[in-house]
Amino acid sequence: MPEGMIGQSPVRVDGRAKVTGTAHYASDMAVPNPAWAFLVTSAIARGRVTEINEAEARQVSGVLDILTHRNMRGEVQDAGFFAGGGYTSTTMRPLEDDRVHHDGEIVAMVLAETYEQAREGAYRLHVHYAEENPAAGFDAEGAELVSAKDASKGSFEDPAVGDADAALATAAVTVEADYATPTQHHNPIELFTTTASWENGRLTILEGSQYVHGLRNGIAAQLGMDPSLVRVESPFIGGAFGSRGSLTQRTALVAVAARRLRRPVKLVATRDQGFTIATYRAETRQHVKLGADKDGKLVALVHEGVEVTSRPDPYKVAGTQTTCRMYACPNIRTKVSILHADRNTPGFMRSPPEVPYMFALESAMDELAVKLGMDPIELRRVNDTMHEPIKGLPYTSRSLMQCFDRGAEAFGWKQRNPEPRSMRDGDWLVGVGCASTIYPTHLGAATARVTLTPNGHARVQTAAHDIGTGTYTVVAQAAAEGLGLPLEKVVVEMGDSELPPAPVSGGSNVTASVCTVVMQACEQIRARLAAAAQDGPLKGRDPATLRLVDGTLRAPDGTAEPIADAMGRASNGAIEISAENIPKGLPPDSLKKLYQGRQALGAGLEGKEVAMAAFGAEFVEVRVHSRTAEVRVPRLLGAFAAGRIVNPRTARSQLMGGLIWGMGGALLEATEIDQRRARYVNDNIAEYLIAVNADVPKVDVLFVEEEDRQVNPLGIKGLGELGNVGTNAAIANAVFHATGKRVRELPIRIESLL
Ligand code: MOS
Repeated sequence: MPEGMIGQSPVRVDGRAKVTGTAHYASDMAVPNPAWAFLVTSAIARGRVTEINEAEARQVSGVLDILTHRNMRGEVQDAGFFAGGGYTSTTMRPLEDDRVHHDGEIVAMVLAETYEQAREGAYRLHVHYAEENPAAGFDAEGAELVSAKDASKGSFEDPAVGDADAALATAAVTVEADYATPTQHHNPIELFTTTASWENGRLTILEGSQYVHGLRNGIAAQLGMDPSLVRVESPFIGGAFGSRGSLTQRTALVAVAARRLRRPVKLVATRDQGFTIATYRAETRQHVKLGADKDGKLVALVHEGVEVTSRPDPYKVAGTQTTCRMYACPNIRTKVSILHADRNTPGFMRSPPEVPYMFALESAMDELAVKLGMDPIELRRVNDTMHEPIKGLPYTSRSLMQCFDRGAEAFGWKQRNPEPRSMRDGDWLVGVGCASTIYPTHLGAATARVTLTPNGHARVQTAAHDIGTGTYTVVAQAAAEGLGLPLEKVVVEMGDSELPPAPVSGGSNVTASVCTVVMQACEQIRARLAAAAQDGPLKGRDPATLRLVDGTLRAPDGTAEPIADAMGRASNGAIEISAENIPKGLPPDSLKKLYQGRQALGAGLEGKEVAMAAFGAEFVEVRVHSRTAEVRVPRLLGAFAAGRIVNPRTARSQLMGGLIWGMGGALLEATEIDQRRARYVNDNIAEYLIAVNADVPKVDVLFVEEEDRQVNPLGIKGLGELGNVGTNAAIANAVFHATGKRVRELPIRIESLL
């Protein structure tokens, strides 16, 4: 049973702890006698703080201290922008000066004996402003448009090949359309919290994080400390998906407050504050032109996108990097621009580049199929390719069409009448739609320490994170397989910067990156045991052929020695191995960067020799009420190929969650912005709509088997972010099929269909 643990579906090793409440999230972890912090955030989006009247706040019983730019100036140093290889989610330093860059920017932090006193103090702090007219985003006066190429100072080039404009001019069939995607905000169940405490010059931060090493090194840089004096703990995370990947402003403030007060400080930001003190998915507008010959073969693709960002930060996701590599096409032109507005800086949110940009491409492909009178699956088939078209690099594997075929069969695609508005069930117009999904295979350098104790238990230590995805479980599976132990004899420790560094839990890289290095450590343990086994019953066997299986060291002829006995021969105590791995294709300094917490992930689609990505096909059925235009989604189905699936149970739940999130993104989610004040209006989860169980009657996830040993020795591609990429377009395409109306702006709401 333990052999081949990779590929099985054990239940989550941390499941019991989570459902019984013994799993402690960062803000649950007890610290002695904490003071409480409450943030005061700006009431304007652009201007200056002219006066802060503290008198009334200071009189609130229990108020201990108030941090503002007046007493914080210079306390927090620059730690570099995350998207530029540094640490922070924005280059705006917390409480740096009187300038206000966006609505909801932190302008003060009130510290008190209790949460309630801090909150009351915050309400009684009177901040006065000199307000300037803000630019909220698109179409706003004063917003500044810059090409991503110029903004990146040479580090970004818009991918292109051939002459797309010339090819479009002579193409047999063309489509051209504008698409728009809204601002979306992270609303993890766990609020954005930070606890800081100091002891003998050492700082401990308790904060839900996708990157404890990044956070540790970033906060050390901000406070001018040696990183070894900072510890970040984040054993469990209540939702992340990009929102906890980089260092936001609040952390340094809480650390400074704790140092000033000489006691631990605890901050739990409110739900609405989370909209402006953390990152979010930026609004985009995109323009797509496709040209094809009469058989549907693409001859030209133009994809242009504009993304909103803050005034100072050139943040972009540039999903054209993916869309330009999706299909065979000899002539491609892309361009990404960013629009600087008076907004907080956006950041990663589940499949950051692919979600908005693939919505546009996959909608346009559907429009092209309609124009050609072609089945949209067949259109994808004639444009399928085993080489990405920009540099001609081979895909290590690509099972897109296998996914379409499996998915179509299971979904019953053939039964549809392709004619729009032709299918009906009583008052409901019925439509079906499909779209491709893709997520690049990223890998990072990683380290892990594996300890095998004399009684045959193993401990795996690595500073990776389980952001709810099942990482504890899959890492335990890797070690169980590597050491030939039952799963229950393996303990995994993660989410602590004292552990050997592991990559950011982003870019769907962790299962591949961490399982690989854990297996390497296990192999070293096996080799040690095998070498020492020569004195025992395995005498004379070639050590290279000895395997760890079922709690024994075993030769191919079946002779076996219990691990405990082999241990006794190899070591006087435990065997502890630290392993470090740089995946193939990553630069040699990847490991050094990992230790500095400024790690970059491997190239995925944009590599030098090969292109690596997971693929899938997503199908949806929608029902649109013929009188009210209400849209319901009775069925979602995805067929996915993502290399070796380490744990089909946790993988399924990741992909199911992705499909559901994608549906919510297509129909519900959007941050509404007051254009005059550049302010988020629905900054709460009563009005920021997220899919609930009642919205999700049937979700099917199918796996298409795929063997790919080029991506990494274990053949793992990663799939956390694969699920929600194609869903937006699949739903828009199904809505078109149901109603005959093409909606090119998300979310699709009743008013889009009237
Ligand atoms: Mo990833 S954007 O951290 O889900």
